[in-house]
Amino acid sequence: MCLREAFDVSRPDSLGPVLIDAVQRSARGVGTPFWLYEAEPVRERVRRLRAFDTIRFAQKANSNVHILRVLRALNVVLDAVSLGEIERALRAGFTPGTEAHEVVFTADIIDEATLARVVELRIPVNCGSPDMLAQVGAAAPGHPVWIRINPGFGHGHNRKTNTGGPLSKHGIWHEGLAEALRLVDVHRLNLVGFHMHIGSGVDYAHLHRVCDSMLDVVRHWNRPIHAISAGGGLSVPYQSGEPEVDIEQYYAAWNATRLEVERIVGNKVRLELEPGRYLTANAGVLVAQVRAVKKVAENHFVLVDAGFSELARPVLYGSHHDICFLTPTGASVVGPVCPIAVAGPLCEAGDVFTQHDGGVVVFRALPLPKVGDLAVLRDAGAYGATMSSNYNSRPLVPELMLDDGKLTVIRKRQAIEQLLDLEVQRELT
Ligand code: LLP
Repeated sequence: MCLREAFDVSRPDSLGPVLIDAVQRSARGVGTPFWLYEAEPVRERVRRLRAFDTIRFAQKANSNVHILRVLRALNVVLDAVSLGEIERALRAGFTPGTEAHEVVFTADIIDEATLARVVELRIPVNCGSPDMLAQVGAAAPGHPVWIRINPGFGHGHNRKTNTGGPLSKHGIWHEGLAEALRLVDVHRLNLVGFHMHIGSGVDYAHLHRVCDSMLDVVRHWNRPIHAISAGGGLSVPYQSGEPEVDIEQYYAAWNATRLEVERIVGNKVRLELEPGRYLTANAGVLVAQVRAVKKVAENHFVLVDAGFSELARPVLYGSHHDICFLTPTGASVVGPVCPIAVAGPLCEAGDVFTQHDGGVVVFRALPLPKVGDLAVLRDAGAYGATMSSNYNSRPLVPELMLDDGKLTVIRKRQAIEQLLDLEVQRELT
């Protein structure tokens, strides 16, 4: 089955000359495929969120330490969801264990190695299960914790990114809070605050429901908390016509909630936001080279040297990423448009960048590129490199950053030897 999709080739914000120049220099310098990020749009996004007391970047969206350093310079703090992300935070210069809570660990489980590390570094733990509270409490009575609440409903750009409601594994079910708070008391844990992240892809109707749920919890349990977190989930435009989130409206709803929480608990309460994609999605592209152009029935397949081992979002969620083609000299590919599917090199039929949810291949109206041209997949700065894999034994590809005119490699291409070197064989004694 296939669908045709109208595609606006004259998107007003098409690649600018600075980005095109950086794409070409990168391609010459490191070969394709590669990720390219621009630092300035990330800073601009941070500035738009300044009203919030704490901007806590969900680094799962883009955890390159050099991106983390750009954020750290702007006083953005971090969320970490694994031991690896904690170590990245340290490498980027964040100081855990201080009053500022520069790193918070958020998860639904905690393994033993991570537990030992968060205790050692005094990293607050945002607990998504009662078992996790019990384990942190047993290991470190008095440890700072947050409670992540599943308010009973959720919302996402895809059902896989909906993190609330009865089908979600995330958070502590709202009716299980009595037990969670009992565990806080038994272990004399230091309850910092309540956290609600109901999914990725903001929806204003849900926003008010989440705020109301937060107030219900605070009113009902009346705990002396010092912070509330609105979680992440702010959406970004992935194609022309999609709106930007209205930050003022979003802040107004949460700030009103915070003021009411302060009134109930009788002390100052910090308002945290935990964005991931909002800060980096629109600031990055994936660049690949066209390696084959095939006619299949009346359509064309343009095959490039990156696939879902690099950018997994289309195959996982049917996500749309705009694609532009550039000639080797940096000119936009022009000519009559024809129905084109853009696909990767992996030995799997689903390795197609132009698809809808459920794997339906979509043919976009694009000018036909030639072998050797570059394909630029846009808005790939969040959940791009961080979700890459070594499928088909493909090494991870380089990351580059453009900042103030300076183009730097911020991650080298992985070598095939590095993959093979892990595959030792030794007897376990
Ligand atoms: N906070 C928590 C607890 C989260 O679970 C997430 C995302 C965020 C914040 C940040 O959400 P954001 O602002 O980026 O929407 N791979 C998917 C997204 C999965 C999000 C998982 N959790 C994608 O590519 O759309």
